[in-house]
Amino acid sequence: MFQGPTAVPDLSAMSGLTIRRYENDDDEAVKEIFTMGMSEHVPSSFVHLLKQPLTQMILMGTFCALMASSKSFLLPVVAVTLLLAGAKQLIGYLFSSYINESLKKDLNRIRETYLESKDACFWVAESDGRVVGTVGCLPCKTQPGCIELKRLSVRRSHRGLGIAKALSRTVGDFTRERGFPAVILYTSVVQTDAQKLYEHLGYKRLREFVIPETIAKLTNFTVIEYRLDLNAGGEKDD
Ligand SMILES: CC(C)(COP(=O)(O)OP(=O)(O)OC[C@H]1O[C@@H](n2cnc3c(N)ncnc32)[C@H](O)[C@@H]1OP(=O)(O)O)[C@@H](O)C(=O)NCCC(=O)NCCS
Repeated sequence: MFQGPTAVPDLSAMSGLTIRRYENDDDEAVKEIFTMGMSEHVPSSFVHLLKQPLTQMILMGTFCALMASSKSFLLPVVAVTLLLAGAKQLIGYLFSSYINESLKKDLNRIRETYLESKDACFWVAESDGRVVGTVGCLPCKTQPGCIELKRLSVRRSHRGLGIAKALSRTVGDFTRERGFPAVILYTSVVQTDAQKLYEHLGYKRLREFVIPETIAKLTNFTVIEYRLDLNAGGEKDD
């Protein structure tokens, strides 16, 4: 069983860093790290929205139509500004809804969901007594017979130190130990740091798809499915 604290050998720059199984006292820190990690994607999602041809058409169309009908410059500028502010609010609202939903589901029952279930686990990275990173894994529903990596997040103050890499490898080791052939995970088009991390670790992109919600379709908000094949050599060392 993969249960005890795991020393992380390649984190020599960070003395006192360990990866260990989740304990009940970690609850608040885990929720906080997840909430902060997700909230930071609001600005990049807004930029993604602005890059979409449909958004540009709506903004240009509104601007030109109001300019032509009102013969005023102020009205179209105000209207476009309001549209942009509304879009930003909507994105913030959608992220908050997703965060709240997650906090009510598995993140509200970490012990039950991850530690008391078969072939599942949840770990935290702890630095000098403080929880600085999280990751969980479960049997994958979309690809039965594989393990799904979930809830990977690292505090901003501790980024770029290899903590996510170590947490991902912990999931890889757990999966291999239990004889599963692959780790599956899902990330979104705006989570570019995560995409780089997974590709760096040897994960392969399986597919990119738009989630069924209308707003996601309109904004071309895609989800990327990654797979790490453990039989094919597993994670890259660096
Ligand atoms: C994605 C995330 C977990 C990375 O955490 P991290 O601890 O900083 O990552 P690491 O230090 O382990 O980086 C490992 C590798 O990922 C890549 N990487 C991570 N952040 C990167 C960045 N900002 N730019 C470029 N590459 C990056 C690099 O390849 C890096 O390897 P290298 O340092 O040898 O070049 C972190 O940015 C995060 O918590 N983001 C918010 C939550 C989130 O989006 N989670 C993903 C859910 S799917």
